[in-house]
Amino acid sequence: MDKTLLDALFQPKSIAVVGASTKPGKIGYTVTDRLIKDGYPGPIYPINPGASELLGLKVYPSVSACPGPVDAAVVVVPAEAVKDALLDCAQKGVKGIILITSGFAEIGEKELEQEIVRIAHENNMRILGPNIVGILSNTDKMNASFCPFLPFPGRAALLSQSGALVIAIDAATYSRRVGFDKLVSLGNMADVDFTDCVEWLAQDENTSCISLYIEGFRDGRRFMDIARKTGKPIIALKAGVSAHGAAAAASHTGSLAGAVKVYGAAFTQCGVVQASDLDNLFDRVLALSLQPPMRGDNLLIITNGGGIGVLATDAAERCGIPLKFAPPDVQAELKKHMPVFGSAKNPVDITGMAGPDWYLDAVRYALTHPWLDGLAVLYCETAQTEPLEIAKTIRQAVTESGVTDKPVCACFVGGERSLKAMQWLVESGIPAYAAPDTAVNAMAALYEYGQMRAAVAANDIPSADPAARGAALKIIQQARSDGRTALTEIEAKQVFAAYGMPVTATRLAKSEDEAAALAKQTGFPLVLKIVSPDIIHKSDAGGVKVNLKDEAAVRQAYRDILQNAKAYKADADIHGVAVQEMAEWGAEVILGSVNDPSFGPTVMFGLGGIFVEALKDVTFRVAPIGVSQAAGMMSEIRGAPILAGVRGEKPRDRQAMAAVISRYSQMVTDLMDEIAETDANPVLLYEEGKGLKVVDARIILKKK
Ligand code: COA
Repeated sequence: MDKTLLDALFQPKSIAVVGASTKPGKIGYTVTDRLIKDGYPGPIYPINPGASELLGLKVYPSVSACPGPVDAAVVVVPAEAVKDALLDCAQKGVKGIILITSGFAEIGEKELEQEIVRIAHENNMRILGPNIVGILSNTDKMNASFCPFLPFPGRAALLSQSGALVIAIDAATYSRRVGFDKLVSLGNMADVDFTDCVEWLAQDENTSCISLYIEGFRDGRRFMDIARKTGKPIIALKAGVSAHGAAAAASHTGSLAGAVKVYGAAFTQCGVVQASDLDNLFDRVLALSLQPPMRGDNLLIITNGGGIGVLATDAAERCGIPLKFAPPDVQAELKKHMPVFGSAKNPVDITGMAGPDWYLDAVRYALTHPWLDGLAVLYCETAQTEPLEIAKTIRQAVTESGVTDKPVCACFVGGERSLKAMQWLVESGIPAYAAPDTAVNAMAALYEYGQMRAAVAANDIPSADPAARGAALKIIQQARSDGRTALTEIEAKQVFAAYGMPVTATRLAKSEDEAAALAKQTGFPLVLKIVSPDIIHKSDAGGVKVNLKDEAAVRQAYRDILQNAKAYKADADIHGVAVQEMAEWGAEVILGSVNDPSFGPTVMFGLGGIFVEALKDVTFRVAPIGVSQAAGMMSEIRGAPILAGVRGEKPRDRQAMAAVISRYSQMVTDLMDEIAETDANPVLLYEEGKGLKVVDARIILKKK
């Protein structure tokens, strides 16, 4: 699909309003009114067969009857009239359709929605919507929506699946003084989606950062690809994180809200910063739209108040950028700009006596020091200082320092005077907040962005392995030809082994004598397990016997297992019994994979046993991933210290584990058309240098 078609949606040269009602209060009337009043410079063509004049403009009976070319059409006629409206637009050569009308997939009318997309694509048109409030652009003076005004000007963009939120955010941009250039309502995303818009905005010179309100992605993988390549900060607020919220989101836009952990993982992988709520979205957008990323974790805080300094220190720790003492030379220099009872450690407390001069010297010096990665300047309103003067001093210090690649945020705690000072600072390009923890959280957003971009750049994603895939497909085809969608443990381990994963040696015995013979070859002690596609939970069926030390024990176990299996499920298809090497015990971990509805194959890692059952201490990544992301998974679970070695225990072989997680992720990616879910549980992870063993394996195939 031609990407330049989106130009017609984002910056059309002429606009028709199809359904331009003559009745004030109707949406078609409002859209026409806003286009005119907010100063849209191109021709506006109201379309309404029953009218001749509207708001001083000539009204046309159809789009095709318009005298000049029409780039985009805002469509505000009832759902049943949309098809004809689109055909009329097509005849005129319209490229962009801003489809405000509701009544499509969100109420189950999927076929109607598909049909209008088909009409659009056949006629080289792109549709924004349906079920939207419209699109707004300050640069283009275009309010093609029923929002009451263009947003407070700035360089951020908003893409929102919720239309009502666009209206609310539009108003809040003024009270919060967070500037936006574009607000885009995406609605049902029948055609144009998040990814299309991010791709377009990435090239827009008037957009410095892109914020997203997301209920669910259709094609999360494509979004990740584009986000990775976008050189601008993207901030996502994902709604539907609670089970109840997810259900509400699904019914709201007809899209599936995926598991929150998978979304979080995907965002981390493609360098998208997350916001926890609407307030946080504004705070983070403000920082990311005005300041460069923070490349290291050396955050310095300069304050005139001890209390707000401590609050900022606590927040820094909470946000993952704990403060460090400033180096001695920094402390020595800063000491010159404060009274003797000040502190130059970090937070740097220039005390309540601090006037503009001390702020000027301290900020200017600190910014130029190579140790510093980011600076938060805090100020408590005092009787002997004027907040606006302090704000201007901070701006002056930043400008005089000549430093443009390190972020600065400010915090002004006080009343009306501080509010005015903050507004002045924001308008002069320095994000300012009313609370120390909010300012530090904004610095954390800049730090997270810097870290994620560096990780995205260190791209070590493995590539497809056709040889392993070929071997795996043979095993899978065998199971399919037997009419099965569950591989046996032996088959699953063969697939794992094809991808180079260390599995316990396992062979199939079809009789007691065969089991005894295989046992001798394998060596004692060993494990016997039932092999039946009908018995997934083998232990529950009495189908597992461990620590068998001699032939007699093996023979007895064989008989017991068969008897238990038949008692558990009389008609189970029993392939035999697996004779398996008994692995030396190690730290129990679990690997798994699912097919996420938005992101496709996704791998999971966590501590096994009770940790996974009771604590759900697991983490996800969208497959495939390289060893650096795999290592990140191991360090982000709560049980990470167990793998690092606690109380004198030796650390576990995390390097070997990371390599296996990466291979595992490649396996589920290569076989994404075949595999629905897998797990390797338990995997026994040994001390550093001793590797690991996959003890049990499960692969469930997709139904075809
Ligand atoms: N071409 C041009 N104009 C047409 C037309 C056509 N094919 N068919 C009807 N019209 C005119 C009507 O005559 C009317 O003008 P009038 O008031 O001067 O007579 C105007 O278009 C609007 O049609 P009407 O039937 O009055 O519809 P409406 O204004 O009540 O509702 C929508 C239309 C699109 C607003 C409504 O169907 C809808 O979808 N509302 C929800 C929008 C929304 O909330 N979006 C998502 C937000 S999150």
